[in-house]
Amino acid sequence: MRLPTKNVFNARPFSADYHRLLAGRKELPVYKQLDRLLKAVQDHRVVILEGETGSGKTTQLAQAMIIEGLIKAGEKVAMTQNKVLQADQVGERIAKEMDVPLGTGVGVKRKGADSTSDHTRLDVLTDGSLVAEAKRDPLLHKYKWIIIDEAHQASTHTDLLLGILKNALKHRPDLKVIIMSATMDAAKFSRHFDGAHREKVEGREHEVRGHHLRQEPEDSTLVEAILQVHATGEDGNILVFVPGVGEMGKIIAGVQRALVGARARYSSTEVGPMEYYKLHATVGEEATRRAIEELPPAPRNDILGRKLILATNIAETSITLKGVTHVIDTCLVKNKIYNPEDESWWLHKERISKSVAAQRAGRAGRTRPGHCWRMCTASYFEHEMLDHAVPEILHSDMLVETITILALGQTVVDFPFINEPAEETIEKAFGILGELAIVNQDGRALTDRGVIVARMEVNPYAATMLLESSTHDCSEEMVSIASMMEAGEAHGIFPRASTKQEQQEQDRIWNSFSHPSGDHITYLRLYMKWREARRNNAQDQFVADNKLRKKTLVDADATRKQLIRILDRDDVRWQSKSLDPDDPKYYSKIVRALAAGSGMKVAKRNPSRPMQYDIVRTGVSASLLPGMSCGAPTRNNEWIIFREYVSGENKSQLKDVTAVPLEYLIDGNPAYWFDVESRPVGHIQERIVETLMSLTGRSEGSIRGGMPYFQQ
Ligand code: CDP
Ligand code: MG
Repeated sequence: MRLPTKNVFNARPFSADYHRLLAGRKELPVYKQLDRLLKAVQDHRVVILEGETGSGKTTQLAQAMIIEGLIKAGEKVAMTQNKVLQADQVGERIAKEMDVPLGTGVGVKRKGADSTSDHTRLDVLTDGSLVAEAKRDPLLHKYKWIIIDEAHQASTHTDLLLGILKNALKHRPDLKVIIMSATMDAAKFSRHFDGAHREKVEGREHEVRGHHLRQEPEDSTLVEAILQVHATGEDGNILVFVPGVGEMGKIIAGVQRALVGARARYSSTEVGPMEYYKLHATVGEEATRRAIEELPPAPRNDILGRKLILATNIAETSITLKGVTHVIDTCLVKNKIYNPEDESWWLHKERISKSVAAQRAGRAGRTRPGHCWRMCTASYFEHEMLDHAVPEILHSDMLVETITILALGQTVVDFPFINEPAEETIEKAFGILGELAIVNQDGRALTDRGVIVARMEVNPYAATMLLESSTHDCSEEMVSIASMMEAGEAHGIFPRASTKQEQQEQDRIWNSFSHPSGDHITYLRLYMKWREARRNNAQDQFVADNKLRKKTLVDADATRKQLIRILDRDDVRWQSKSLDPDDPKYYSKIVRALAAGSGMKVAKRNPSRPMQYDIVRTGVSASLLPGMSCGAPTRNNEWIIFREYVSGENKSQLKDVTAVPLEYLIDGNPAYWFDVESRPVGHIQERIVETLMSLTGRSEGSIRGGMPYFQQ
């Protein structure tokens, strides 16, 4: 590749920073093989590119395509990343290497931020953002070249994009596609694109040595391993991959305790200070930056200190964490798996695949050689771990995915999935979306309502509540509730503390917000109070005082604005209305709108087991989250609506719950409860006849024989 003598975007001479970074870039394996790669991407419409982690795929290829004129002024290349964190870091890095500020030449588009424009030639997008663009233009005409990076992650959005691209290639002779990863099943991707050309970048810049345990790990093994690496390992920071945020506090406490003993065990002069960081989806931008950017503490009395960064799978691929030379991997991940049979979600801790393990290890060798310490034996790694992770789409309920595919003008049955979801899941999704009047009967097209729901990009139940809300005069309130639920789904609304004492303190705070009807109105109150605090410039204090997550509230606020923009359009039957707080029907109106949008996500209190509810549609029994409202069993909370049924290690719980009188449920969704002759419909009959008897004072026979419950 010929290096430009001045900036390709603005023709200015290069800065000193550019030259410093260039020296590093020239050492990367990809850089040395660029001529071959550039020829390959020119000669073939689809290229599958493999190359070790750290070889320079992500940062070098797209930029070389621009420098060599494959992407000219006025044309664009898109490159996807799986997560916001990765999109931000990759975009910033490439902009810096190309010596331009972000937003000129190189831009990033992801939920919550967009620096792409007509002036950016390389757009780094999250895969979700590119799917959103495809919904507006299924052939993605904006882009001449599309690079799907980190394909091994098999995120749902990436899988959708692979189908979208397969279709777009058929209709757009000018479109070109590159699929990249260090650890993907390249043959499978090549097959998906009808035998696409494969390229491999040989070599890696820095070696990462793998280590395995001699015997199976015990409870204390992880803390001991951290300590041993700290006391005896080569210089550099330690990055530990753990399955969930919940474990982090305990591990840090364990390390702190053990450090005291270690100073006695190892020669105390060798065990330096340790600084602790957490890295997960909710820590916030500032804490994330510190975890990634800050260097290890400076030596003190000749002893090196280290950073200990505990991370979830958020830090697994693509990013560079400064100064990390040790990765300690529990080899576990927490997955959320859908079961179409009873519409439940299963929270399951399971082992990662070899491909993911290689990505995690790759975080140790970004800037110099490193080590990866795996908390499993070599034989376990070899024989028990899958080569590749189960694609995320196979764990999904296919609700949002079905809406997306139909919005693209395709059908789920004919969509060219690289990983085909189970027929049972698809059928269930058609059923639910049909009941919510989002898709037509055979699931082949969106209804008018569905077209609007597709734009909203929220859970279809939440979308339905929103569309029903103006009938009940509470549309503004419902937008707040739906936005809080969306943000809560991503980050959790109440971060649960790890110690009993802290939990009691949290319970006290939350009880002060909670409304007896349940979670939804509690979320509304929280949001309103936060907004009030924001008006007084006291929102950070409010978040700290009440032990909330800033990110959840900020995201909810952004989602709220976006939803209102969509709902306010002329073709949507929605009007902005808000309730008078003194309206005696304030709560009942909101609860009615909630009921109308809950479909059959309804449960009835189990008369003999306290705090247990039976889900009406499936008959499965579940409990409520402790500390949440709807606690005391009274007649008023015999029926509840819920957002999700989650089963984890030995407990099944309903999340986001509100008590709703049966009358509201029936009024909201008559078709769920009664057939055309006003008889209770089949599968729920047994469970409601009794209630209807007490509710109406009618005899069993008259109810079973049909009854004019509604005034039509
Ligand atoms: O995509 P791939 O894993 O092949 O590599 P890359 O993301 O292009 O990064 C190549 C190298 O650039 C890394 O190993 C780091 O040495 C360096 N890099 C960095 O120092 N800081 C970044 N934000 C990104 C990359
Ligand atoms: Mg990469």
